[in-house]
Amino acid sequence: MSSEEKYILDRGLMFPKETHSLESLKFAQEYTFKDDDVTAVVYPKSGTIWMQEILPLVLNGGDLTPIHSIPNWDRVPWLEEKRLALVVDNLASPRALVTHFPYHLMPPSFHTSKAKVIYVMRNPKDVMVSSYYFHKMAEFLEPPGTFDEFMEKFLEGKVLFGKWTDHVKGWRGTDLGDRIMHITYEEMVQDLPAALRRMSDFLGRNLSEEAIRKIAEHCSFKTMKNNRMSNFSLVPKNYMNSDTSPFLRKGVAGDWKNHFSPEQLAIFTSVIRKELESESFSLPWSLD
Ligand code: A3P
Repeated sequence: MSSEEKYILDRGLMFPKETHSLESLKFAQEYTFKDDDVTAVVYPKSGTIWMQEILPLVLNGGDLTPIHSIPNWDRVPWLEEKRLALVVDNLASPRALVTHFPYHLMPPSFHTSKAKVIYVMRNPKDVMVSSYYFHKMAEFLEPPGTFDEFMEKFLEGKVLFGKWTDHVKGWRGTDLGDRIMHITYEEMVQDLPAALRRMSDFLGRNLSEEAIRKIAEHCSFKTMKNNRMSNFSLVPKNYMNSDTSPFLRKGVAGDWKNHFSPEQLAIFTSVIRKELESESFSLPWSLD
């Protein structure tokens, strides 16, 4: 299948046809945010399904029912995907959503609401590695080609949802004030209970240490890998082939070290550094 058959183009960005349509993107634009909606904004391969596990538990105080009974895509739907229209009426308030949208594609009602956002950022080198394997296993995406070829596409932004640097710049540069919390995938890997405490405070949940401990246990990589409502094993193999690469693949920070040659690292670092050089924020990890 050619790229035109697999992807739709809208407002300069590529979306997989399997999960998106022009109607779903229109539905997202017309979505009415409520003040108590909570959205995790995550560039693809930076911890989206992790947030689909975490958010319902933080919001409900650790009741495991949703993560054991509802597939992740219906439990915390993507704002931009076709499923949202089918499940939106079943979502109980406070509703939790995820999106890969860059800031400028957020719908008008998001800006006029008080809805909160948790923005998860991951080291772009690990994002690229994770995405490379995802493109190998997801039959509805174009094969990644060689690592060099995929790196070129990634750096040029010829990938789903555009350039990583544009995404980060857009969401770092908002005027959302205390409606947005920034966290990194690496912080979550390093100390999940601490990350959960920050989210709980941000969302005004005041969770007990017992609840934090329970949520951390159920949102660990190991537990999620065995949760059929979250590990995509409900999806047919001809759609996502876990024999090629499981969706929950490694779940670590720094796997890029096993993939980048010194030459690839030098190119990658110089492009990202240049694109962020005039930004006022700094990245929490060294790019080298
Ligand atoms: P890897 O491919 O590096 O293992 P997304 O959900 O945005 O597509 O991101 C997928 C990445 O998040 C994968 O990274 C996956 O393993 C990782 N991930 C998902 N749940 C996780 C968890 N509980 N702990 C650590 N990493 C997790």
